Amino acid sequence: MNDEGVVNRPRGVITDHRGPTGTSTILEFSSVAPGDSSDSGRVVHTRLEDQEAYDTWHLALLTKELVASRRCASDLASTLADLPRPEKNLLVALVLAARPELRRIAELGCSLFELIDGIDAARCVLSRQNEVRVPDVTDLEFVGVDISSVMRDAAAALHPEHRLDVVADVSEVQSFDFLYDRNVSSYAFTCPQALAQFLCRGQAGLLNLFVSLESTFASNRMGKTLTYFGLEELLEELDQPLFHLFGDRSPGHDFSRGRPVVEGFFMYGPEDLASAWWETSQRDPKVAEYFAQKAIRVEPAATLLKEGVPR
Ligand SMILES: C[S@@+](CC[C@H](N)C(=O)[O-])C[C@H]1O[C@@H](n2cnc3c(N)ncnc32)[C@H](O)[C@@H]1O
Repeated sequence: MNDEGVVNRPRGVITDHRGPTGTSTILEFSSVAPGDSSDSGRVVHTRLEDQEAYDTWHLALLTKELVASRRCASDLASTLADLPRPEKNLLVALVLAARPELRRIAELGCSLFELIDGIDAARCVLSRQNEVRVPDVTDLEFVGVDISSVMRDAAAALHPEHRLDVVADVSEVQSFDFLYDRNVSSYAFTCPQALAQFLCRGQAGLLNLFVSLESTFASNRMGKTLTYFGLEELLEELDQPLFHLFGDRSPGHDFSRGRPVVEGFFMYGPEDLASAWWETSQRDPKVAEYFAQKAIRVEPAATLLKEGVPR
């Protein structure tokens, strides 16, 4: 909002794709006088709402990440400790190192396609450690899905030299070799069948999935429908194995309202890919140490159904 209380909306922002209304998303830029912690003394300089708030927050956060990845790639002194979000960038880079024939890389909810810069940063760090060779991102092809036109435009503008195609809807993606999903599947699909049909268009994936150990159910996060996919149904629909790698609970609010769920990181794909990925990780002592610290394992996801919710 400007001084006259008029909201300055960037042009081209879609405002109707946040799912059911009810919950508002707010991004506020405000100040308080020294020592004044009261809400009444707060001066609001800018207040963005709903889709504009969501886009602006993620643009800021992920631009910082993209810049950090580019710095990590160009600074010869950087190490694995400097790599942004290793649980995303390192783990994807290791799949590509283990299986260089996977060349068409998809991301569901690709945002700025900061994944491209993250893979490149991981490639640079790993090449300095000299044990694992990750393919060059300029030799890969990227296909992204993002519902936000702001994100799609930004992803294209930030990667003029890469081969990338960014679309608004999953129906526009015919095929891919490898998929990364940071839990956007829970927004994009409302049942395990639809998710499985999408996964079957590719050969493998690393997925942050919210699964229910009972039936599929829908919750709500920031005004968007959030699906917890029934794990048993999902496994029946998939044409490749699903492995649980690590994690069982996302930090923050419990959107499952106490139901038996796993909010974790999974690998989808043939067993030999999972073992090649594991073997590649163990070649580099620093990467092996990271895997041990995070307690990463390659366990058939069906085990979760037998073991129940991890404690
Ligand atoms: C929290 S970010 C997660 C993805 C991000 N690239 C990452 O790794 O953290 C969510 C992104 O998914 C997009 N998104 C949300 N719902 C979507 C949907 N149904 N289909 C495609 N993209 C969606 C948003 O516009 C945003 O860019």
